[in-house]
Amino acid sequence: MDSVQKFLEAVPQPVFLGLASVGALFLGSKLFSYLQLLLNAFVLSGTNLRKYGRPGSWVVITGASDGMGKEFALQLAAKRFNLVLVSRTKAKLESLAKEIEEKNTGKGVEIKTLAMDFNQNNDADYEKLEELVRGLDIAILLNNVGVSHSIPVPFTECDTEELESIITVNCIGTIKTTRIIAPIMKEQKRGLILTMGSTAGWAPTPLLATYGGSKAFLQHWNTAMAAELADYNVDSYLILSHLVTTAMSKIRRPSLNIPTAKSFVRAALSKVGLGGFINAPKTYAPWWPHAFMIWAVEKIPGVNNSTVISINKSMHVDIRKRALRKREREAKKA
Ligand SMILES: NC(=O)c1ccc[n+]([C@@H]2O[C@H](COP(=O)([O-])OP(=O)(O)OC[C@H]3O[C@@H](n4cnc5c(N)ncnc54)[C@H](OP(=O)(O)O)[C@@H]3O)[C@@H](O)[C@H]2O)c1
Ligand SMILES: *[C@@H]1O[C@H](CO)[C@@H](O)[C@H](O)[C@H]1NC(C)=O
Ligand SMILES: *[C@@H]1O[C@H](CO)[C@@H](O)[C@H](O)[C@H]1NC(C)=O
Ligand SMILES: *[C@@H]1O[C@H](CO)[C@@H](O)[C@H](O)[C@H]1NC(C)=O
Repeated sequence: MDSVQKFLEAVPQPVFLGLASVGALFLGSKLFSYLQLLLNAFVLSGTNLRKYGRPGSWVVITGASDGMGKEFALQLAAKRFNLVLVSRTKAKLESLAKEIEEKNTGKGVEIKTLAMDFNQNNDADYEKLEELVRGLDIAILLNNVGVSHSIPVPFTECDTEELESIITVNCIGTIKTTRIIAPIMKEQKRGLILTMGSTAGWAPTPLLATYGGSKAFLQHWNTAMAAELADYNVDSYLILSHLVTTAMSKIRRPSLNIPTAKSFVRAALSKVGLGGFINAPKTYAPWWPHAFMIWAVEKIPGVNNSTVISINKSMHVDIRKRALRKREREAKKA
């Protein structure tokens, strides 16, 4: 203790004050971001969706027939938005449209559907989409469509077909759809674009390298585009999500950190734009346990920390082993 005190006394006062204020600023900024995290999670609500369109204005949702896309459709119809549902399987789209119409009878919710496979990257499909939305008052675009690796896989062992479809659906599909819808919003001087990101894109994720890369692309793309669209009163956000119980995650049982699509989407629609503490601007993590995880990783080791990346890698190596064993069992049964 004595020697510490002697050392402190020996430090010239301006240097001491300088160091102390750097320290205070550092701690202060962590504290401030923690406060923001708590307020976002438990106190504040996000932008009211009515800012973007009156009842009867339209929402375009991609990947709308299942998982989170389907939930977005159900919950936005209940908020009296009309829907353009875009997804691969026609029959699933039609039964969802019927379900929504039955749930909202008398409320005048209109629904248009378009069955298209984003993996085909077919110009004719995008022309049909353009035709379908012509003249509509579009309040919200939900860039939700996405595919991942069927199981965690080392990059060098992944089929090129799978690699290509991830980029084609997640990146090309999203930018081409937005290229159609964003100009309409720009013209209207009003609108909201929400794009489904992933924590696999926020932090480098071994064995999901290409999926994570596609989501990192969307994250950077969104931040830049949002700055451009801000001049036209159009808001654009990336929604950061960790695991949710859907067909994609193959997890059925919800837990605190793995919500159902219904709970996740409810949070996503009530917390629009409440980012703040996250490194990437124009990004928000609506599910609060996800937000706490994101905060802790960003503020303590950092997303690029090599120890964090190697822990993540062992986790995915394990998941892969289990998934391969399950495949084997199922192959034997069949
Ligand atoms: N689930 C998670 O843990 C998680 C975590 C972070 C981020 N996300 C992201 O959240 C978004 C939604 O994921 P989810 O879990 O809800 O997925 P999901 O349950 O697998 O549903 C995907 C939806 O996209 C459609 N789709 C898939 N490939 C398509 C294609 N080639 N062309 C047209 N439509 C296609 C599916 O249509 P069909 O009905 O024809 O199958 C389905 O409606 C994705 O962007 C995903 O990356 C998910
Ligand atoms: C680890 O893996 C998951 C995917 O299972 C990913 O979403 C997460 O962001 C990764 N990284 C960290 C730092 O948690
Ligand atoms: C990663 O984070 C841990 C814990 O904060 C730290 O001890 C380690 O030095 C970091 N590694 C690198 C390479 O920065
Ligand atoms: C992590 O590394 C990537 C490049 O690999 C960079 O774009 C990003 O800004 C880094 N994140 C942080 C928080 O330093």
